[in-house]
Formats: sequence, C-alpha cells, structure tokens
Amino acid sequence: MMRAVIMAAGKGTRMKSATPKVLHELCGRPMIEHVIDAVRGAGAGQIFAVVSPDLKSHLEELGVACIVQDPQNGTGHAVAIAMAALERADGEILIASGDMPLVPAELLRAVVDVRARSSAELALVSAHVPLPTNFGRIVREGGRIVRIVENADASDAERRIDEVNTGIYCFEESALRRHVAALRPDNAQGELYLTDCIASIAREGGRIEAFVCDDARLVMGINNRIELAAANAVLQRRILETHMLAGVTIVDPTSVGIDAGVEIGPDTTILPQTMLRGKTTVGGKCAIGPGCLLEHAQVADGVTIWYSVVRDSSVGRGVTIGPFAHLRGGSNVHEDARIGDYVELKNTVLGRGAKAQHLAYLGDAEIGEETNIGAGTITCNYDGKRKNKTKIGKRAFVGSNSSLVAPVSIGDEAMTGAGTVVIRDVPPGERVVGNPARPIKRKAEP
Ligand code: UD1
Ligand code: CA
Repeated sequence: MMRAVIMAAGKGTRMKSATPKVLHELCGRPMIEHVIDAVRGAGAGQIFAVVSPDLKSHLEELGVACIVQDPQNGTGHAVAIAMAALERADGEILIASGDMPLVPAELLRAVVDVRARSSAELALVSAHVPLPTNFGRIVREGGRIVRIVENADASDAERRIDEVNTGIYCFEESALRRHVAALRPDNAQGELYLTDCIASIAREGGRIEAFVCDDARLVMGINNRIELAAANAVLQRRILETHMLAGVTIVDPTSVGIDAGVEIGPDTTILPQTMLRGKTTVGGKCAIGPGCLLEHAQVADGVTIWYSVVRDSSVGRGVTIGPFAHLRGGSNVHEDARIGDYVELKNTVLGRGAKAQHLAYLGDAEIGEETNIGAGTITCNYDGKRKNKTKIGKRAFVGSNSSLVAPVSIGDEAMTGAGTVVIRDVPPGERVVGNPARPIKRKAEP
C-alpha cells in the first residue's frame, strides 16, 4: 500500500490571514482538500499530513492522520518528524504540499510510476518555468540530477536554470529515512531542506529520476491572495469544462461559478451570472439562471429557475421558480409547483402542482397539492417567542393578502377571502372571510 505525506505546516504569512493558508477555499473547498483528493486519486492508501497545531482537528475529520510540527524548521524537518511517526515499511512514500491545489492525481501517479519503473531511490516532478522564480533549481551534470539549490542559496548562474523543483516527490522509503536523518541546517534560511536529500542520494551514486511536467500552471503554489485568485480561476475553468464536456450548456463561462463536487445532468443550461455552490445537484433539461444562487440545493429534472436564490432546499421535477424568489431552511417544493416573484419559502413544503405566484412569505408551512396561495399571503409563524406551524390542505384557495396566524391549519378545499386574518383552524371545505376570520354560508346550505 502506498503511503503519502502532505506537508502543510508552513505559516502562510503572506496570506495575511487568521485562517491557516491551506484552509482558504478554491471553488468552495479548502485548498488542502483538493490536494487530499489528488493524493487519494493517485492511489495513496494512507495519508499523513504534517500540520501546525491549529489544523489538526479539521484534517482528522477528513480521515487524514496528523503529525503536528511546532516549531516549523523546514521541509526536511517536516518529513523527518513524519517518518519518525510512521511505522517502518518497505514501500514508497509520496510527498506533496498542501498549498498546491491544482496538481492533478495523474501527475502524482506519473511520478510514482516513473520511480516504480526505474527502481530509483527518488523520482521527482520538475517543470520549466519563466524566470525569475522562487522555485528551487534542478542542477544537472551530464543530464543527471545532482542537487537542488534553493533560490535564496543560488549563484547567479544557478538562478538562470529554468528547470525547477515542484516539491512533489516519490521516495523509496529506506532511502528517504536514511537521507532525511542526515540533513543539516547549513543554508540561507537555517532550516532543514528536504531538497538536500537530492545531493546526498546523488553522492552515494543513487538513482534520481525526474518527471518533467509540461504545464507549469499545474504546479503553482499559493502564497498570497493574488495567487489564490489565479489558481481559483484555473480550477474553475477546469470544472466548467468538465460539465460542458458532459453535456451541460454554459452560456457565459466567465460569469458562472460552479463549486467542486456540484453535479449537473445533461442538456441543462446554466445562464449568465449564476453560482452553484456546496453540495448542489441539478438534474437534466433544467434552465438555471440568469442571476441565480443555488447553495446546497437538490434540483430534479426539467426545472426552470431564474433570478432567484435556493439554499438548503429541494425542488421537484418540472417546477418553475422566479424571478426574485428565495427558498431556504430545508424547503421542499414538489413537482410541477410554481413559485413566482417576491416569494420567500423557509422550512416549507409546497405540494405537487401548488402555486405561490406573487409576493408571499411561507415559513414553517406545509401546503397540499394543487393549492393556490394568493398574492400577499403571509404565514405569521413567529409569535415573538416561538416559530409555529401552518398546515394547508389540498386544493385549498388562500385569498390575496391573507394572514395565517400560526399555529393554524386550513383544511382540504377550504377557502379564505381576500384580506382574511385566520386565527383559528378552518375545517375542510369551509370558506372564511374577515378579521378575525368567520365562516360564510354556502348558497346550497338551508
Ligand atoms: C520548497 C522547496 C523548493 C520548491 C518549492 C516548490 C525546500 C527546501 N524547497 O520551497 O525547492 O521549488 O517548495 O513549491 O523544500 N512546510 C512544512 N513545514 C515546514 C516548512 C514547510 O510543513 O517547516 C510545508 C509548507 O506548508 C508547504 C511546503 O512544506 O506546504 C513547502 O514549504 P515552503 O516554505 O512553501 O517551501 P518553498 O520555500 O516554497
Ligand atoms: Ca520556505
């Protein structure tokens, strides 16, 4: 089983943030979770992260074993304490950094494969980048890698080398243990450099291979919020292209944001100025946007939503929503229902084919199928102390500007007149009007 170490204890001071660097988000997910996904995707069976004390609990929730490094004395020190904590085995150790969220699983896999094929002590990922750069430089002699020199320690001639160390390594375990143990902090930063292992392996005549990554953008490390935004843009484009190739039309990719992990069915169109965030799923043949925010929303097939916000709620097949509607708090709209302008739903179930087309607040309510909610209807769910429930049956008709003072229920096929203030339960089939609501006689009654 392959084991991996993610180095993530660095302070990240250039983020100027109270939040640890690797918890800053890209496309809705903390930076380090992208790295964990890639490391898992490359086949690591066990992942260890070297972290500062404030990261431990977050990563352990994700099933990553944490090794706290405090103080942080460099990448060599990070790996040394990781190896001291790991049980000895005769395998390989993949090493990556928590601040490189664009590295795909395939790149990690490639370096693992290169090492396995060559039985080298070490395979690393290098890349050619524009100069100047802060990356460590790969120094070769006669084509062979003989050492890595950090930018801070490099001579002018070495700074002109454009093949750099990306910080991704696959080591043969026993070699790693031996060479890490021999590291010394005799360099510009007074730290233990993991990169000094390269020279010591080379001196012993050990074998070092490089996998040269031909897209330097993939190995960009994030040190400040400018780089965070740039990496976010690359990742966002990758997510959008994946959806487009899977059959989703995105009319204007520059104005759409879709988080990692969002699912969208084929033949759905995402219109401009739309964001799909968190654990959102959208079915097929939907039209979402323009101007929508969906966050933790479950949307079935054939739904139309425009200029609206749907959060923590689910929407059934064939529903239309908007413009300017807001669904939140665990609302559940069943198939073929319609929600129109300036309608807010909070923790409300709207039955199949029911309609709330204009200007309404429906909170903590349960509304039966094919019921019509008139313009201006308010569920008065809050009495100043408690939130109370409103229950409305099937095929009921709630007249315009009705106030339903909860807790209250309105039976199947009951009706309220315009402007009614309902303070007591209305039985099925009854018609009520006025403030407070009173029943009106039906013509058929004696
Ligand atoms: C390192 C490499 C450099 C390479 C670059 C690629 C060394 C000495 N240099 O430099 O050759 O080009 O990465 O990005 O390794 N970390 C710890 N504990 C520490 C120090 C760092 O966990 O004590 C972690 C950081 O959180 C980060 C990673 O190790 O995720 C790299 O550390 P960083 O300080 O960014 O290394 P660089 O100076 O960029
Ligand atoms: Ca450093």
